[in-house]
Amino acid sequence: EKGGYDYFMLKEIAEQPKAVADTLLGRIDAAGSLSLDEVRIPGPVLREVDKVVIVACGTAYHAGLIAKYAIEHWTRIPCETELASEFRYRDPILDQRTLVIAISQSGETMDTLMALRHAREQGAKVLAICNTNGSTIPRESDAVLYTHAGPEVAVASTKAFLTQLVACYLVALYLGQVRGTKWGDEVRSVVRELSDIATQVDEVLETMEPVRELARSLADKGTVLFLGRHVGYPVALEGALKLKELAYMHAEGFAAGELKHGPIALIEEDLPVVVVVPSPRGRSVLHDKIVSNIQEIRARGARTIVIAERGDEAVRPYADHLIEIPATPVLLQPLVATVPLQVFACELATARGNEVDQPRNLAKSVTVE
Ligand code: F6R
Repeated sequence: EKGGYDYFMLKEIAEQPKAVADTLLGRIDAAGSLSLDEVRIPGPVLREVDKVVIVACGTAYHAGLIAKYAIEHWTRIPCETELASEFRYRDPILDQRTLVIAISQSGETMDTLMALRHAREQGAKVLAICNTNGSTIPRESDAVLYTHAGPEVAVASTKAFLTQLVACYLVALYLGQVRGTKWGDEVRSVVRELSDIATQVDEVLETMEPVRELARSLADKGTVLFLGRHVGYPVALEGALKLKELAYMHAEGFAAGELKHGPIALIEEDLPVVVVVPSPRGRSVLHDKIVSNIQEIRARGARTIVIAERGDEAVRPYADHLIEIPATPVLLQPLVATVPLQVFACELATARGNEVDQPRNLAKSVTVE
């Protein structure tokens, strides 16, 4: 049932191009418009939405953090992403014009379920993004957009994460379409580029041998840090989470801009630091800033592991290890940038002799608060 792979996680990493393509299937028409008929929240209600709140846990929360950038950029609706376990207890401000998006692979996560119940009690509309048909979270929501990742068996989430991102982009673009904000060439071209992502994820998977080799060489390290900016920041958080849960290593993700506000004190000789570099096209300010962050940490002895767009020559001189990924629009980069981090964590776990599919102390579905 592992389809020739040693672990379900490896199989599920490899299934990502298909999972992404399946999640897009039937949702984009030939003209490049979205038809999300399943989202049974009527157009007039969506047009009235004045705030989006995303609630989720763990990896799904990281998908939600990335969704915030896309939703605000494409719809201009203010969006917050919040840990489901924190949400309810701070008396959040919600009403009929709030759209709450609950993201969950299993559809059974108790913290997320309690958050959505609370939101509905306040009159908010809840849209679930879920991978498990008929599970509790979609049943209790006003609407659901299913991700089509197929069953995810490994405890560490991989293909479900990528499909959650795809679903979030679709929701963001759909909101833009329904409300007429930013619905023009820019969005149509993003829809086209989303359709290319499956092939690009495949390309990334083809080039992972050096990443595995690098991971094996770091098996005796104690700490790995991850840095990113913009949508690369949640990718850094996700890279760190994967490493904690699989390799049982101390790993932390930071916004690169926060370095000088504290974390740079951690940098010491030969400390591995993974940096997710935004595309040099588009927002070149971000790119320039992260290049100086890489220089700063390298000057202090860090071993820099740089994930950057193919052809990004500006980072090459400062990268001890360069992991190249295909060029994508800025907001879509997490779909390709996360993949090497999954492979990295999986290989490190294997090298350290850990149980990849069933890490200690963790359960696939967390049905207690
Ligand atoms: C990490 C991981 C967990 C889940 C989290 C939410 O690899 O799998 O962090 O993402 O427990 O689970 P769902 O998405 O089922 O609500």
